[in-house]
Amino acid sequence: MGVEARYDGVAGEYDAWVGVELADPVFEELVGGVAGQEVCAVACGQGREARYLASQGAVVTGVDLSENLLAIAREREEADPLGITYLQGDAHTLDGLATESFDGVVCYMALMDIPSLDRALQSIARVLRPGGWFVFAITHPCFKTPATGDLVDHTNNTIRRTVGRYFDEGYWDGPGQVQPALPIGAYHRMLSTYVTELNRVGFVIDQLREPPLDHKPVWLEVPCLLYARCRLA
Ligand SMILES: C[S@@+](CC[C@H](N)C(=O)[O-])C[C@H]1O[C@@H](n2cnc3c(N)ncnc32)[C@H](O)[C@@H]1O
Repeated sequence: MGVEARYDGVAGEYDAWVGVELADPVFEELVGGVAGQEVCAVACGQGREARYLASQGAVVTGVDLSENLLAIAREREEADPLGITYLQGDAHTLDGLATESFDGVVCYMALMDIPSLDRALQSIARVLRPGGWFVFAITHPCFKTPATGDLVDHTNNTIRRTVGRYFDEGYWDGPGQVQPALPIGAYHRMLSTYVTELNRVGFVIDQLREPPLDHKPVWLEVPCLLYARCRLA
């Protein structure tokens, strides 16, 4: 049975929420110079990171499950061509992409949306050339679990993050907090699961980032996102 393209139903809302341009200095730093490299953007959505990479001189292929997000990506490519190829496909298999055909792969804010981490990482490893790099960003698995909340510490009016159900791996859902129309459910996995699965597939983690973010006071206290740059050993 195929994987459900949940973003098809909210493509317009998602696009309006995240905006057209990707402006993420942490991602840019981890990706580094990509001019002339062949890079695959797995779960590229409407193409934000694909367009960033192509603007830096990479030859980019974007793959996503959601036809509706890809339609937006293709419209942007048509309006302002950067030579990006967009394909509808499942990250679990990356069918249609040749083995050892990319210098690098990115998966931006999507591994937690993909049901099988193991299968997605195996496919990513398959399409990478020996020694290839893999950069991803995810909601931080330690601070975005199936049960989290924010509390005001009344002694000094600062925000405290409450975290529960950390060991409860699997799909979870809840009311949209930022954007009620968007699916905020995701597949929670422990940090150790990410590291174990990456290693099992043959990735070495070269760099991790947990930047403070200022869009909500709590994210200045604990990290909202986790970024990694890995390499096939
Ligand atoms: C939070 S969005 C991120 C999209 C884009 N990377 C961005 O940052 O704007 C998650 C994306 O993962 C995609 N996705 C989920 N499961 C997938 C799968 N099995 N194969 C390919 N894409 C998938 C969704 O369609 C959606 O575009």
